[in-house]
Amino acid sequence: MNKVKIKKILKKKGKKQIVCLTAYSSTMAKILDKYCDIILVGDSVSMVLYGMKNTKEIKISTLILHAESVKKICKRSLVVFDMPFNTYKNKNIALKNAKKVMKQTKCDAVKLEGGKKITNIIKHLVKQNIPVMGHIGLLPQTSKSFKVKGKNKNQQKKIYQDALALSNSGVFSIVIECVIESLAKKITKSISVPTIGIGASRFCDGQILVTDDIIGMSDFKPRFVKQYSNVRKIIEKSVKNYCTDVIKRKFPTSKHVYKY
Ligand code: KIV
Repeated sequence: MNKVKIKKILKKKGKKQIVCLTAYSSTMAKILDKYCDIILVGDSVSMVLYGMKNTKEIKISTLILHAESVKKICKRSLVVFDMPFNTYKNKNIALKNAKKVMKQTKCDAVKLEGGKKITNIIKHLVKQNIPVMGHIGLLPQTSKSFKVKGKNKNQQKKIYQDALALSNSGVFSIVIECVIESLAKKITKSISVPTIGIGASRFCDGQILVTDDIIGMSDFKPRFVKQYSNVRKIIEKSVKNYCTDVIKRKFPTSKHVYKY
């Protein structure tokens, strides 16, 4: 099943945009599944839902629970599991963890952060029929600074070579995070697999954002995020009105109680 979905995604390169968002629950996944090509169960759940300082702290067992919840509701979208920090330190650890993830969550693919250095791990997983999505540019699991990448020639060369290496190691797509637009454009033109941008460029083959950021549930508002609604305001209004109703004995009314 995942092979068919991946083929469809590959076919879109250069023709149609690939639409991706994150989800951590069935409720969100049910909505996203109607519109997205790819749903990522991202390790961003650590900061978005658990209030952790970075993405390094999330445990694989926690992410597995979120992925199970997402995957069971999805019919259309390809569901990708974001392998947490330290779960793919070498090829054997990576395979053991990826197999466990695929078996327990039934996700369609896994995502790993890193360039050239992890191509042996990627090849090992791909050989075992585990589809892999790459992730280059800004790498939240290991980056010391959260600055745009590719502003100097050395960085540009490294990220470009990372993209080529990943593409040659069998990934079915590559997330490019926070790099200058010209570099993402050059990479997208040079490789055969789709590039998925997050703060990367208008020229990537697809785009991904964290859903909580686009609906205004989080405080995170970098340049690359477009906020489409302010769900927090709506929730706050509902909570406030409910509290007032309870205090003033306006809720429950006769409509909300059982009679016989
Ligand atoms: O964890 C995450 O949400 C990501 C991004 C690419 C959106 O890795």
